[in-house]
Amino acid sequence: MTNQMGTAPDATSEHGRQGRQSESLLQATERTRQRYDRLARVFDRMEAGVESRRMHSWRAALWEHVRGPRVLEVGVGTGKNIPYYREGWRITAIDLAPRMLAQATRRADREHARVELRLGDVQALPFPDASFDTVVATFVFCSVPDPVLGLQEVLRVLVPGGQLLLLEHVLSRNPILGRIMNIANPVVVRMMGANINRETVRNAERAGFKLQRVDDLWRDIVKLIQAERL
Ligand SMILES: C[S@@+](CC[C@H](N)C(=O)[O-])C[C@H]1O[C@@H](n2cnc3c(N)ncnc32)[C@H](O)[C@@H]1O
Repeated sequence: MTNQMGTAPDATSEHGRQGRQSESLLQATERTRQRYDRLARVFDRMEAGVESRRMHSWRAALWEHVRGPRVLEVGVGTGKNIPYYREGWRITAIDLAPRMLAQATRRADREHARVELRLGDVQALPFPDASFDTVVATFVFCSVPDPVLGLQEVLRVLVPGGQLLLLEHVLSRNPILGRIMNIANPVVVRMMGANINRETVRNAERAGFKLQRVDDLWRDIVKLIQAERL
């Protein structure tokens, strides 16, 4: 068992970029951390229905594509992907919120999973360039305050040819539904911490990724996104 709760990098750390983030971004990140810390105890119960009906099979579809051995999961949350980790991979998993990470630590212990768990912000990853073969995130970039910055950091820590695998809900292209999602977004963010109007496929391209494949898993809203660092 190699669970380790490390600490987030400070402004002067070697790889962290927090020193370069604006005050407003730091404040937005702190609000996100507080929201997920508040949700940590009820998070699994809150999602239990959709997890067993849908998310479980979406996760299985994503993990089919993971290439090891060095795998980073960002926004590990309560550790719902831990059952999919394969023997032989060297897995590191980070989350912004200490209480979510504590739940993931308990799950890793229960599952006897070999994973290094640490606190960290995807917008300032505490890893050197080209450290991982695959980076995975499931339903994370909806809540990262600056998703393009986060995806740029992911690009930096991937080896050339390394892959990004995302499960994300995004803004619908349906004009009526899209409008409703935009209007409802501020309320959903306050309650759940997640933006429902993100354009994560475009954000991955903006960050410098080459898209390989995008599958619609539910309507045009939930997507499995596969992209590569050239
Ligand atoms: C909706 S939950 C998803 C958790 C998990 N990936 C899953 O599929 O159940 C979003 C997670 O992303 C984390 N998160 C949000 N912003 C983050 C950031 N900037 N860096 C790292 N993790 C972040 C939150 O703390 C939370 O645990």
